[in-house]
Amino acid sequence: MKKILSILVLSYMFSQVAFSQKFEKLALTPPMGWNSWNKFGCDVSEKMIMEMADAMVSSGMKDAGYQYIVIDDCWQVGRDNQGNIVPDPERFPSGMKVLGDYIHSIGLKFGIYSDAGILTCGERPGSRGYEYQDARSYAGWGVDYLKYDWCYADDQNSLASYRLMRDALYKAGRPIVFSICEWGSTKPWIWAGDVGHLWRTTYDIRDCWDCSTKVVYRGKESVNFLGFTKILDQQTGLESYAGPGHWNDPDMLEVGNSNLTIPEYRAHFSLWCILAAPLIAGNDLRDMTPEIAGILTNREVIAVNQDSLGMQGRKVRDDGDTEVWVKQLKDGSRAVVLFNRGQSEAKIPVFWNEIGYPDHFTATVRDLWLKKNLGNYKGSFTGTVPSHDVVMVTIRP
Ligand code: GLA
Repeated sequence: MKKILSILVLSYMFSQVAFSQKFEKLALTPPMGWNSWNKFGCDVSEKMIMEMADAMVSSGMKDAGYQYIVIDDCWQVGRDNQGNIVPDPERFPSGMKVLGDYIHSIGLKFGIYSDAGILTCGERPGSRGYEYQDARSYAGWGVDYLKYDWCYADDQNSLASYRLMRDALYKAGRPIVFSICEWGSTKPWIWAGDVGHLWRTTYDIRDCWDCSTKVVYRGKESVNFLGFTKILDQQTGLESYAGPGHWNDPDMLEVGNSNLTIPEYRAHFSLWCILAAPLIAGNDLRDMTPEIAGILTNREVIAVNQDSLGMQGRKVRDDGDTEVWVKQLKDGSRAVVLFNRGQSEAKIPVFWNEIGYPDHFTATVRDLWLKKNLGNYKGSFTGTVPSHDVVMVTIRP
């Protein structure tokens, strides 16, 4: 009898473990794609999403590695009498399955958005209480990526809420990248490694250099919107939590949304690449200037982000206005970003002993924006960096 009981207990425990897991082998390098929120907010429609998917192909972004087309908030309007989530019939008249099929037909992947609370941030129906039902709908529509937000959820336990949706997705059976978006409020880097594939580390990014704005959220003045340098400052110390299948997410890109200069967008992109951040473009892909397309599709810079070792870069020197960031790559070489926040040009050195090489090593330095080798250097390299810009190099002994 005892034996039978232990077998029953063990098989119950095994079944729980078998169903309580995220999809493995997804997002082994940081996810790359596009999301509607930064540029379009709630103004989403199937027409625009299809055009954006087409533009991802025609602009060369697909060939450069971008895959996911993610519809953020406001695609949903209610629930039917069986509780199924209902997309906006005017903006998405063909339905989500047709949209997903179209995105797949041109070789891309389909992403969608929901929220762990009763409402989304745009006050559309959230998934609370409908997790398994929504996960089944997404799987039926061919969804490949779910961004799961945290509005109207502040009375919930974050780990339990995100585990619940993780398990629902797993049960629905379609491999879906799970993007946790609780803004770093309960330190997801500590608990989310086996829950999601990426997790936001801060409040929302804004298309500005160092702004920060307070908003009133549920009657409280709280959530800050942050310029990319402010977000960057909050990434130090999180490096060790990132790796293949589990990434820190400093929020989507603002490259091309027009408030910043080309050098500033180059800096934003370079730093997101060295951070091993998900590269989710947030601009209008249909009318990019060649300079913006050139930033988003620079394959040498993207290769640093997508390096299969999956190490997040870290800041090794901070001299106030100038900073040195380094990321170790699979082949043992280093990618380095020399970042100048100051108002005038700066000469910024990087010393081999800061990046884990002995002084006597001779290494080839390659400039990833100029796309040319700068020669062989021993012990250090010094870049001349214009104001609000970067020099990004690889250093190969
Ligand atoms: C939150 C998220 C944003 C976006 C909006 C949508 O603010 O952090 O990225 O998804 O909600 O309403």
